[in-house]
Amino acid sequence: MKLNAVTEALKYVNDGDVIGLGSGTTVALFMEELSKSGKKVTCVPTSLDTLFRASKLRIPITTLNHVRVLEKTFDGADQVDERLRLIKGGGGALTREKVVAYSSKELVIMVDKTKCVKKLGLGFPVPLEFIFEALPLIQKRVDELFGATVVLRMGQGKLPPLISDNGLVLGDVHFKDGLEDPNYAEEELNKIPGVLENGLFTKHPNVTVLVGEEKGCKTLKRP
Ligand code: 5RP
Repeated sequence: MKLNAVTEALKYVNDGDVIGLGSGTTVALFMEELSKSGKKVTCVPTSLDTLFRASKLRIPITTLNHVRVLEKTFDGADQVDERLRLIKGGGGALTREKVVAYSSKELVIMVDKTKCVKKLGLGFPVPLEFIFEALPLIQKRVDELFGATVVLRMGQGKLPPLISDNGLVLGDVHFKDGLEDPNYAEEELNKIPGVLENGLFTKHPNVTVLVGEEKGCKTLKRP
């Protein structure tokens, strides 16, 4: 199913494009297939993992400082709802992913159909990136605002906490009954002092979601 989404996404890439590249296993597969296709692109990576994969596949790398605006970014997601709002950051790269996505005219998301949900936050937490010292304050505010809990992400289940590519820590916000209003949650989480970014993507104006199924791929566009 993932490969079907990735194969469809390749049709959105033209020789000579400069593209944003997200992070995660779906993007890794996309990069492999892109490299096999022979299309020559330059990429803006969103994580060290993607940067190293690009170097290995000899995909040239640039930065937003050089290109400023991208036509398209290709990324995966952890959950997608019917309004094509996303939870991202399961792999911890949410902040750079959001910066690159919002610097792109079109955000192309590749998922398998298991990621499509009625309600965001049910069965998957919302990732957060923040400074470690803010954890108690964040836990208190998130409880007051949503009755939700924040779990610090650990390196393979042990101390010390996992450190992000930006040198901060990551946490996951667990909403017992999912999110009633993801747009509001995205805004409120980012207002808590010490929070750098959260994994809700509700505001991109041009999202295309390619949903890989057992046979083929469905294309969803936000009206
Ligand atoms: C990483 C992400 C990924 O896009 C998301 O976690 C999906 O990953 P995968 O393609 O491995 O299922 O947001 O921060």
